Amino acid sequence: MNRLIHDVADESGTAALGAALGRALPNGTTVALCGTLGAGKTRLVQAIAEACGVDRRNVVSPTFVLIQEYHGRRPVYHIDAYRVRDEDDFEQLGPDEYFEGDGLTLVEWADRVEVCLPPDRVEVHIDVTGPTSRRFEILALGAGYDDAIEQLRAALG
Ligand SMILES: Nc1ncnc2c1ncn2[C@@H]1O[C@H](COP(=O)(O)OP(=O)(O)OP(=O)(O)O)[C@@H](O)[C@H]1O
Ligand SMILES: [Mg+2]
Repeated sequence: MNRLIHDVADESGTAALGAALGRALPNGTTVALCGTLGAGKTRLVQAIAEACGVDRRNVVSPTFVLIQEYHGRRPVYHIDAYRVRDEDDFEQLGPDEYFEGDGLTLVEWADRVEVCLPPDRVEVHIDVTGPTSRRFEILALGAGYDDAIEQLRAALG
């Protein structure tokens, strides 16, 4: 398991981390985002999507449509599990199609549907450490992310 801890002072730090993730993560990666209300999950998704060539103004939490597809240089799928009732409800959305696809799949509130997630994935846990400061813990589960994590380490200094 590959693990990286990254502290940011403010939103621009989150944006920079998202940009680095968007550049480093290989096609087909599922990213599980965990953190309390307002931790910055959607803000991070915006930065990741932007690095993939998506206009970030199009990236909002998929509140009514639970899955959004963005078409940048590569497809980005944005899923928000906040409003799903349970795992069965989530499975109804057909998430495996996205997990098995070639795009980047980003799942907010992933801890609510953990059993439905692919075992090979990248987890991002966000802790609110102050009004604008955040601690990110990035965990690469499964093989195939070594290069991405090294690239990320180099990018973040
Ligand atoms: N370091 C930071 N990183 C990200 N957002 C920050 C940071 N500091 C302050 N903020 C603010 O916190 C809020 C984060 O909102 P965001 O929608 O990204 O959270 P979220 O985790 O997706 O919440 P929800 O659980 O409601 O989906 C924004 O209003 C943003 O401006
Ligand atoms: Mg959100």
